[in-house]
Amino acid sequence: GLVPTMGFLHEGHTSLMQRAGKENDKTIATIFVNPLQFAEGEDLSSYPQNLEKDISECEAIGIDLLFAPSSEEMYSQPILTSVQIDQLMNSVEGASRPTHFSGVATVVAKLFNIVGPCNAYFGEKDWQQLQVISTMVRDLSFRVKVLGCPTVRQSDGLALSSRNAYLSLEERKAATALSRSLQSASENVQAGETSAAVIKSQIIDEITDEALVTLDYVEIVEGSSLIRIDQISEGARILIAAKVGKARLIDNADPYFGIK
Ligand code: PAF
Repeated sequence: GLVPTMGFLHEGHTSLMQRAGKENDKTIATIFVNPLQFAEGEDLSSYPQNLEKDISECEAIGIDLLFAPSSEEMYSQPILTSVQIDQLMNSVEGASRPTHFSGVATVVAKLFNIVGPCNAYFGEKDWQQLQVISTMVRDLSFRVKVLGCPTVRQSDGLALSSRNAYLSLEERKAATALSRSLQSASENVQAGETSAAVIKSQIIDEITDEALVTLDYVEIVEGSSLIRIDQISEGARILIAAKVGKARLIDNADPYFGIK
């Protein structure tokens, strides 16, 4: 069982590790803040890190092997190869971060090849990433089974993310607007609303009401292709991204289930 991470572990990560522990004979975790998936001006240099604490957590969970390479070890030669996935990488989060998913897919391909055949666990919080990795595995015949695991949230709904560490107390409160808006959108869908435009504008209104939150996008898409839809039906996904102080946060939900 493999759990790739960028470290600064929280319960979202440890829930993946615990599941990997239950479902596999041996578990491997990786910690690597992958420069390829950060664009110029993003938070690569300030990305939160605490390797000592992460090591203790991995030990406490019973991870059998922790791979935490340096950048020099991972990319000892200039890397000339990159993984590109048509359509999936340019939309939604990829429209805001055009080089991000290629960086993710490339490092994950490398990790899969280093580790070998495995079950690999990823959180649904990074929904588009999960689709990108699943598609890469299918298209390139990696001997890997990709397993998506539910987003872990705090009691007020905020999705756990290492980037929550950037939030002040006030911003932390305001950040719940993301999950709140997803939950109320899903209640409206469950009450019978199927127009993506209506649901989108409700989310936009709710997020705009929160002065400390600046919405980047809200998109309603078919969940695996990430293609925008006008009418919400089974398999749809609502994805949002917003800036809260220094943090850029993302969240998503199945409109028929909400954030539960
Ligand atoms: O989700 C993450 O933490 C990263 O994108 C991943 C999958 C470990 C690749 O660097």
